[in-house]
Amino acid sequence: MLRAVLQNAITPAVPIRRGPCTAWRLNIARIARDEPGGRSEYNRRMPQAPQTPPARIIPEPVRKGIDVSINGKHFRHTGDPALPLLWYLRDVLRLTGCKYGCDDKSCGACSVLVDGKLKRACALAMADLADKDITTIEGLAKPDGTLHPVQQAWIDEDAILCGYCQSGQIMAAVDLLARKPKPSDADIDGIGNLCRCGSYPRIRRAIQRAAAATQGKTK
Ligand code: FES
Ligand code: FES
Repeated sequence: MLRAVLQNAITPAVPIRRGPCTAWRLNIARIARDEPGGRSEYNRRMPQAPQTPPARIIPEPVRKGIDVSINGKHFRHTGDPALPLLWYLRDVLRLTGCKYGCDDKSCGACSVLVDGKLKRACALAMADLADKDITTIEGLAKPDGTLHPVQQAWIDEDAILCGYCQSGQIMAAVDLLARKPKPSDADIDGIGNLCRCGSYPRIRRAIQRAAAATQGKTK
Protein backbone atom coordinates (compact mmCIF):
# COMPACT_ATOMS: atom_id res chain seq x y z
CA MET A 1 0.00 0.00 0.00
CA LEU A 2 2.72 2.38 1.09
CA ARG A 3 4.72 1.40 -1.98
CA ALA A 4 1.75 2.25 -4.20
CA VAL A 5 1.31 5.62 -2.55
CA LEU A 6 4.99 6.44 -2.92
CA GLN A 7 5.00 5.25 -6.53
CA ASN A 8 2.03 7.46 -7.28
CA ALA A 9 3.83 10.43 -5.69
CA ILE A 10 6.90 9.73 -7.81
CA THR A 11 5.02 9.06 -11.07
CA PRO A 12 1.60 10.67 -10.88
CA ALA A 13 -1.12 8.71 -12.70
CA VAL A 14 -2.89 11.86 -13.82
CA PRO A 15 -0.86 14.13 -16.08
CA ILE A 16 -0.17 17.30 -14.23
CA ARG A 17 0.11 20.79 -15.60
CA ARG A 18 3.65 22.09 -15.59
CA GLY A 19 4.46 25.13 -13.58
CA PRO A 20 7.02 26.14 -11.00
CA CYS A 21 5.44 23.91 -8.38
CA THR A 22 5.23 20.98 -10.80
CA ALA A 23 8.86 21.34 -11.75
CA TRP A 24 9.78 21.21 -8.10
CA ARG A 25 7.76 18.01 -7.61
CA LEU A 26 9.29 16.35 -10.66
CA ASN A 27 12.73 17.32 -9.43
CA ILE A 28 11.98 15.67 -6.09
CA ALA A 29 10.84 12.58 -7.95
CA ARG A 30 14.07 12.50 -9.97
CA ILE A 31 16.12 12.76 -6.78
CA ALA A 32 14.07 9.94 -5.20
CA ARG A 33 14.67 7.67 -8.23
CA ASP A 34 18.35 8.64 -8.25
CA GLU A 35 18.34 9.37 -11.98
CA PRO A 36 21.12 11.39 -13.58
CA GLY A 37 20.98 14.67 -11.80
CA GLY A 38 19.33 12.85 -8.91
CA ARG A 39 20.33 12.05 -5.35
CA SER A 40 23.88 10.78 -5.93
CA GLU A 41 24.83 13.75 -8.06
CA TYR A 42 23.03 16.08 -5.70
CA ASN A 43 25.01 14.69 -2.75
CA ARG A 44 28.25 14.95 -4.71
CA ARG A 45 27.68 18.64 -5.35
CA MET A 46 26.76 19.43 -1.75
CA PRO A 47 29.50 21.08 0.32
CA GLN A 48 31.34 18.39 2.21
CA ALA A 49 31.92 18.53 5.93
CA PRO A 50 35.61 19.02 6.77
CA GLN A 51 37.38 15.68 7.14
CA THR A 52 39.95 16.96 9.60
CA PRO A 53 39.03 18.70 12.84
CA PRO A 54 39.59 22.45 12.72
CA ALA A 55 42.62 23.88 14.41
CA ARG A 56 42.09 24.69 18.05
CA ILE A 57 40.22 27.98 18.35
CA ILE A 58 42.16 30.43 20.47
CA PRO A 59 39.88 33.06 21.97
CA GLU A 60 40.58 36.65 21.03
CA PRO A 61 42.18 38.60 23.84
CA VAL A 62 39.86 41.04 25.58
CA ARG A 63 39.90 44.24 23.56
CA LYS A 64 42.45 46.66 24.92
CA GLY A 65 41.31 50.09 26.01
CA ILE A 66 41.46 52.83 28.62
CA ASP A 67 39.66 51.99 31.83
CA VAL A 68 38.03 54.87 33.67
CA SER A 69 35.54 55.21 36.46
CA ILE A 70 32.86 57.82 35.78
CA ASN A 71 30.36 58.62 38.52
CA GLY A 72 31.23 55.32 40.17
CA LYS A 73 30.75 53.16 37.07
CA HIS A 74 33.49 51.44 35.14
CA PHE A 75 33.92 52.20 31.42
CA ARG A 76 36.49 51.09 28.86
CA HIS A 77 37.30 53.48 26.02
CA THR A 78 38.50 51.52 22.99
CA GLY A 79 38.47 54.37 20.48
CA ASP A 80 40.94 57.13 19.71
CA PRO A 81 43.17 57.71 22.78
CA ALA A 82 43.43 61.41 21.80
CA LEU A 83 39.66 61.91 22.16
CA PRO A 84 39.03 64.71 24.69
CA LEU A 85 37.12 63.66 27.79
CA LEU A 86 34.47 66.28 26.97
CA TRP A 87 33.45 64.38 23.82
CA TYR A 88 33.71 60.99 25.45
CA LEU A 89 31.25 62.18 28.09
CA ARG A 90 28.89 63.94 25.72
CA ASP A 91 28.98 61.81 22.56
CA VAL A 92 29.78 58.34 23.88
CA LEU A 93 28.18 58.27 27.32
CA ARG A 94 25.55 60.96 26.62
CA LEU A 95 26.42 62.75 29.86
CA THR A 96 25.58 66.14 28.44
CA GLY A 97 25.81 68.14 31.68
CA CYS A 98 29.43 68.79 30.73
CA LYS A 99 29.17 71.69 28.29
CA TYR A 100 31.20 72.75 25.27
CA GLY A 101 32.17 76.40 25.51
CA CYS A 102 35.52 77.69 24.38
CA ASP A 103 37.40 74.40 23.75
CA ASP A 104 40.41 76.31 25.08
CA LYS A 105 40.52 75.78 28.88
CA SER A 106 39.18 79.33 29.34
CA CYS A 107 35.48 79.26 30.18
CA GLY A 108 35.07 76.33 32.58
CA ALA A 109 31.78 75.14 31.08
CA CYS A 110 33.25 71.65 30.77
CA SER A 111 34.49 71.42 34.40
CA VAL A 112 34.60 67.96 36.00
CA LEU A 113 36.42 66.42 38.93
CA VAL A 114 39.27 64.03 38.18
CA ASP A 115 40.43 62.20 41.30
CA GLY A 116 38.69 64.96 43.26
CA LYS A 117 40.50 67.84 41.50
CA LEU A 118 38.82 70.36 39.22
CA LYS A 119 39.76 69.83 35.58
CA ARG A 120 38.61 71.09 32.21
CA ALA A 121 37.34 68.15 30.19
CA CYS A 122 37.97 69.84 26.83
CA ALA A 123 41.70 69.74 27.52
CA LEU A 124 42.01 66.16 28.79
CA ALA A 125 42.80 63.35 26.37
CA MET A 126 41.39 59.95 27.23
CA ALA A 127 44.93 58.58 27.00
CA ASP A 128 45.81 60.51 30.17
CA LEU A 129 42.85 59.24 32.16
CA ALA A 130 43.60 55.54 32.61
CA ASP A 131 42.28 54.33 35.97
CA LYS A 132 41.15 57.83 36.96
CA ASP A 133 38.04 58.52 38.98
CA ILE A 134 35.89 61.12 37.22
CA THR A 135 32.85 62.89 38.62
CA THR A 136 30.50 64.91 36.46
CA ILE A 137 27.46 66.97 37.42
CA GLU A 138 25.35 63.84 36.86
CA GLY A 139 27.25 62.07 39.64
CA LEU A 140 26.92 64.67 42.39
CA ALA A 141 23.53 63.68 43.77
CA LYS A 142 23.21 60.56 45.92
CA PRO A 143 21.71 57.44 44.33
CA ASP A 144 18.46 58.08 46.20
CA GLY A 145 18.19 61.47 44.46
CA THR A 146 19.28 63.64 47.39
CA LEU A 147 21.01 66.65 45.91
CA HIS A 148 24.54 67.68 46.79
CA PRO A 149 24.49 70.70 49.18
CA VAL A 150 25.91 72.86 46.40
CA GLN A 151 23.13 71.83 44.01
CA GLN A 152 20.54 72.54 46.70
CA ALA A 153 22.07 75.95 47.43
CA TRP A 154 21.95 76.75 43.70
CA ILE A 155 18.23 76.10 43.74
CA ASP A 156 17.64 77.99 46.98
CA GLU A 157 19.51 81.05 45.70
CA ASP A 158 18.01 80.79 42.21
CA ALA A 159 21.52 81.07 40.82
CA ILE A 160 20.73 79.87 37.32
CA LEU A 161 19.99 82.27 34.49
CA CYS A 162 20.30 80.71 31.02
CA GLY A 163 22.01 77.76 32.69
CA TYR A 164 24.66 76.98 30.11
CA CYS A 165 27.65 77.62 32.37
CA GLN A 166 26.04 76.38 35.57
CA SER A 167 27.06 72.74 35.65
CA GLY A 168 30.66 73.91 35.34
CA GLN A 169 30.07 76.56 38.03
CA ILE A 170 28.67 73.94 40.40
CA MET A 171 31.60 71.58 39.84
CA ALA A 172 33.99 74.45 40.48
CA ALA A 173 32.11 75.33 43.68
CA VAL A 174 32.31 71.70 44.88
CA ASP A 175 36.05 71.79 44.30
CA LEU A 176 36.42 75.14 46.09
CA LEU A 177 34.48 73.98 49.15
CA ALA A 178 36.57 70.80 49.32
CA ARG A 179 39.69 72.96 49.47
CA LYS A 180 38.25 75.88 51.47
CA PRO A 181 35.19 75.03 53.55
CA LYS A 182 34.80 78.72 54.48
CA PRO A 183 35.61 80.59 51.29
CA SER A 184 35.81 84.37 51.17
CA ASP A 185 34.18 86.32 48.35
CA ALA A 186 37.65 86.76 46.88
CA ASP A 187 38.10 82.96 46.87
CA ILE A 188 34.80 82.60 45.06
CA ASP A 189 35.66 85.28 42.52
CA GLY A 190 38.94 83.46 41.93
CA ILE A 191 37.17 80.41 40.53
CA GLY A 192 37.43 81.90 37.08
CA ASN A 193 34.50 80.12 35.39
CA LEU A 194 32.83 82.50 32.94
CA CYS A 195 29.12 83.34 32.85
CA ARG A 196 27.87 85.38 29.94
CA CYS A 197 24.64 86.08 31.81
CA GLY A 198 26.46 87.69 34.73
CA SER A 199 25.11 85.40 37.43
CA TYR A 200 28.19 85.99 39.58
CA PRO A 201 26.40 87.64 42.57
CA ARG A 202 23.91 84.75 42.69
CA ILE A 203 26.71 82.20 42.43
CA ARG A 204 28.55 83.93 45.28
CA ARG A 205 25.46 83.74 47.49
CA ALA A 206 24.85 80.11 46.56
CA ILE A 207 28.40 79.09 47.45
CA GLN A 208 28.20 80.89 50.80
CA ARG A 209 24.88 79.14 51.48
CA ALA A 210 26.36 75.74 50.58
CA ALA A 211 29.38 76.46 52.81
CA ALA A 212 27.05 77.26 55.72
CA ALA A 213 24.94 74.16 55.03
CA THR A 214 27.93 71.81 54.99
CA GLN A 215 29.07 73.24 58.32
CA GLY A 216 25.69 72.52 59.84
CA LYS A 217 24.52 76.14 59.79
CA THR A 218 21.45 77.34 58.00
CA LYS A 219 21.34 80.63 56.25
S1 FES B 1 35.00 74.32 26.93
FE1 FES B 1 36.47 73.62 28.31
S2 FES B 1 37.14 75.41 29.32
FE2 FES B 1 35.72 76.16 27.84
S1 FES C 1 23.86 81.42 33.37
FE1 FES C 1 23.99 81.88 31.28
S2 FES C 1 26.08 81.64 30.82
FE2 FES C 1 25.98 81.49 32.93
